[in-house]
Amino acid sequence: MDWSPFVVCAPEEYAPASRGLGSAEGIADRLRTAAFAERQAFAAFLWAAEKMSDASDELRAAWRRIGLEEEMHLNLLLGRMAELGVKVEDRPVSDRLWRRLIQSKTAPEFSALMRDAEARGRAAEESFRRSLAQRDPVTAAIFGRIADDEAEHLAVADRLAAGGVESNADYPSKTKDFDGGPR
Ligand SMILES: [Fe+2]
Ligand SMILES: [Fe+2]
Repeated sequence: MDWSPFVVCAPEEYAPASRGLGSAEGIADRLRTAAFAERQAFAAFLWAAEKMSDASDELRAAWRRIGLEEEMHLNLLLGRMAELGVKVEDRPVSDRLWRRLIQSKTAPEFSALMRDAEARGRAAEESFRRSLAQRDPVTAAIFGRIADDEAEHLAVADRLAAGGVESNADYPSKTKDFDGGPR
């Protein structure tokens, strides 16, 4: 997998811990980690849509749509990093999430793993939204917007897990308002 411009550490290694949130470096580390989580989620949703032969057409379509939103999140975060002069390649990241997700053998297994990942991501982003609100409101707003989207992804995942059918009509694309987003 080509993860460039991210620098990925060896499978047995852990990425270096984020520096203090009170520093510019700490904000940079969180932006980079969040961006790479989005990168992995983007890749994993498209991988699942392609490979999970037990998934319904509706589920594959939902995965593709959500995957493209993860790509938008990635671009929001990369855009903010560029504005702050943060280099993607300055510190390594771990692709453990991706490696775990692609071990899935069935659609329910993938859905459950991804749901956990989305919930953890959402909780982290919510906490950054609050803790950065005063010091860096622009970054805080980006984390907040992504947290809100992840809440929707979780709702879609839960509806699909309950056997609901997702259609393009009841899941409006957010592509349009991203054009005028915080970048
Ligand atoms: Fe996302
Ligand atoms: Fe998501």
